[in-house]
Amino acid sequence: MGDSVPTLGVGMVGYAFMGAAHSQAWRTAPHFFDLPMRPAMRVLCGRDSAGVTAAAERLGWESTETDWKQVVANDAVDLVDICTPGDTHAAIAIAALEAGKHVLCEKPLANSVAEAQAMADAAEQAAERGVRSMVGFTYRRVPAIALARELVSQGRIGDVRHVRAQYLQDWIADPLAPMTWRLQKEKAGSGALGDIGAHIVDLTQYITGERIASVNGLLQTFVEERPLAGNGTSGGTGQVTVDDAAAFLGRFTGGALGVFEATRFATGRKNAIRIEINGSLGSLAFDFEDMNVLQFHDAQDSSQTAGFRRILVTEPEHPYTGHWWPPGHGLGYEHGFVHQVADLVAAIGRSEQPLPSFAQGLQVQQVLAAIERSSELGSWESTDERTSA
Ligand SMILES: NC(=O)c1ccc[n+]([C@@H]2O[C@H](COP(=O)([O-])OP(=O)(O)OC[C@H]3O[C@@H](n4cnc5c(N)ncnc54)[C@H](O)[C@@H]3O)[C@@H](O)[C@H]2O)c1
Repeated sequence: MGDSVPTLGVGMVGYAFMGAAHSQAWRTAPHFFDLPMRPAMRVLCGRDSAGVTAAAERLGWESTETDWKQVVANDAVDLVDICTPGDTHAAIAIAALEAGKHVLCEKPLANSVAEAQAMADAAEQAAERGVRSMVGFTYRRVPAIALARELVSQGRIGDVRHVRAQYLQDWIADPLAPMTWRLQKEKAGSGALGDIGAHIVDLTQYITGERIASVNGLLQTFVEERPLAGNGTSGGTGQVTVDDAAAFLGRFTGGALGVFEATRFATGRKNAIRIEINGSLGSLAFDFEDMNVLQFHDAQDSSQTAGFRRILVTEPEHPYTGHWWPPGHGLGYEHGFVHQVADLVAAIGRSEQPLPSFAQGLQVQQVLAAIERSSELGSWESTDERTSA
């Protein structure tokens, strides 16, 4: 990459799970994708000085801050990457957009529809000044998922009739698993619903090109109290204030029926994002635990040989894969984050709105809020309610 390529100064807030995944992406993307700007990893922010200094060294950042406001105020920062829990997203994103910085914000966009609405409004105003924003629904960038969207939009499965989606984990199935911010409503907004249910809401809408118009949901908390982290079973407990699992039905704008499940109690399932879509002309099926594969059934095949075919999504003709290795040399979890950075920087370079936009993040938040209302009221709920918390 020559000197003529301008620099994109990046500041990132949060340095744990997503902080590491995003750092890896900022480091790697310019080496595998031809980007219109060269990302420079200017500043990493965390609240603990020693912790953020060690993380910056490990992850490859030039400098550190302990207050995100200093990142937003930093002239060397052109883009703020938000990798913190949901309770901080709105304040950081809105301040950054108002300061003229592009924003990449982790999902779910916020902890409430009201916050997400304020963020989408700020993003719209910033876009008029050429300032871009994107929400991190990373799994869109798994090549097999992007291929599924292409096949649906080409009409290969015809009219979409059934959408079946599950996001299954088991990391808190043990009732002695300790408290974390993910189990506190004021930090996380919701539990399995917003953390992993948000992904399957986004993915199924992305693949089908349709929106979820109404929902009927059930939320359940199986374990109400857990040991506080680091205290074992004798050092006190904390109250779980979010759902452990969510199940919901959804009606798509095109008439398809959706059946969804998001849980952290599916013992034996680690990160199983399973999506099956049945259309009038065929079906598609995906499981993240076999992420390089997309299953495709063409209902027009001769019944003698018809069946699900296993497409190994590693050909140069497949989305993203031509930037990596020869066919059959599969990709992993981290590649989605590299694709996310590559798409974001490309969109900024073209002065275009990167996707998913904050407006799309807001729409997912509306679906989540409608599921919560439905679970409380025992009713079907429209997803276009704009003000519900
Ligand atoms: N795209 C995905 O697939 C994906 C996967 C996991 C998490 N996430 C999302 O990423 C976000 C972060 O999740 P995580 O798993 O990285 O959490 P984490 O607990 O691993 O890390 C959170 C980080 O934020 C820091 N932090 C918290 N409050 C802060 C503040 N006020 N100022 C500065 N730093 C602060 C913490 O110290 C920590 O470094 C959440 O919104 C989560 O939903 C997205």
